[in-house]
Amino acid sequence: MTGDRLRWGVLSTANIGRAAVNPAIQASRNGELLAVASRDTERARAFAENHGIPRAFGSYEELVADDDIDAVYIPLPNGLHREWVIRCAEAGKHILCEKPLALNAAECLEMDEAARANGVHLMEAFMYRFHPRIERVRARIAGGDIGVLRMIRSSFTFKLTRPDNIRWDPDLGGGALMDVGCYCVNVSRTLVDAEPIEVQAFAKWTDRDVDSELVGTLRFPDDVIAHFDCALTMERNEVVEAAGTDGVVVVPSAFLPGTDEVPIHLDRGRGARETETVAGHDEYLLMVEHFADAVLNDRPLRYSAQEAAANMRVIEALYRSARNGGRPESV
Ligand SMILES: NC(=O)c1ccc[n+]([C@@H]2O[C@H](COP(=O)([O-])OP(=O)(O)OC[C@H]3O[C@@H](n4cnc5c(N)ncnc54)[C@H](OP(=O)(O)O)[C@@H]3O)[C@@H](O)[C@H]2O)c1
Repeated sequence: MTGDRLRWGVLSTANIGRAAVNPAIQASRNGELLAVASRDTERARAFAENHGIPRAFGSYEELVADDDIDAVYIPLPNGLHREWVIRCAEAGKHILCEKPLALNAAECLEMDEAARANGVHLMEAFMYRFHPRIERVRARIAGGDIGVLRMIRSSFTFKLTRPDNIRWDPDLGGGALMDVGCYCVNVSRTLVDAEPIEVQAFAKWTDRDVDSELVGTLRFPDDVIAHFDCALTMERNEVVEAAGTDGVVVVPSAFLPGTDEVPIHLDRGRGARETETVAGHDEYLLMVEHFADAVLNDRPLRYSAQEAAANMRVIEALYRSARNGGRPESV
């Protein structure tokens, strides 16, 4: 590593890179976006020019081989995460990879192993947990504001209108649970602060056998329950509630709160509501700055690839259940 700024490359001209993560890297205090690669040379060149990125490559291989790049951000379709994380690790690049980290827990562990063997950092890009609001919600639960936590309720749905989108493609790791339900699983595990023992799910499948809608239940130790729904076919909704014996913490726009200040509501029944306001932040910026700090100072990341594997284990169990008509499945 040279200097005090991490030099990033991004694999592909993906929407999420263009819209959120690339600009965050460019705005970060400890990073710069040095290169973009695309399967298509012209697309890479035009993207680089439009977004002020100095280098453009017509293949992912060329970017991975560039000695000036310290870290690679991977917003490829889910089915390609494993291959490119391992190729980056073997080239000595640190890796921030989009969620879900892989198609299953075994792949996550293989990627973790490759990162360890090559001495590089690897993190799954669940950006919502870098917003300070989530820590505040955890503190309120731990502080007894809702009494004893009994249930997490969450939802992440939106309407995907483009028929050629990667999310409809089973070969690329599509599906509602993989795309947005993974946030509900992650936030449930985060707020309960434990791993579920058993899960159950029901889904609606497309004619290509991808889940377009899925409802899941997670049973944690002490019978704390999380239930959630996710869909690629319904109006945009994203909310998390932590419900306890004495009240409910309500977190609107839980995963994509934007950069303005955001509320946390505390409902105590019969319409009684207190609202706390948390200052606005760019969660993508906080995520990439945390990642670069960890790499530049050789410190551990806040979230490990093992943590990503634990999330995938739950997702796999939910799919097993949904494929079997809602049969309860151990995690
Ligand atoms: N954290 C978040 O807020 C967030 C939000 C949305 C998505 N995501 C995650 O980010 C990843 C990308 O999602 P996205 O919606 O940004 O995807 P997208 O716009 O469809 O971009 C994916 C890119 O991958 C490249 N690619 C390589 N092989 C491909 C193939 N066989 N089919 C299609 N594209 C291929 C393409 O780039 P080139 O043609 O340039 O090579 C394409 O532009 C997914 O893992 C998703 O879960 C995260």
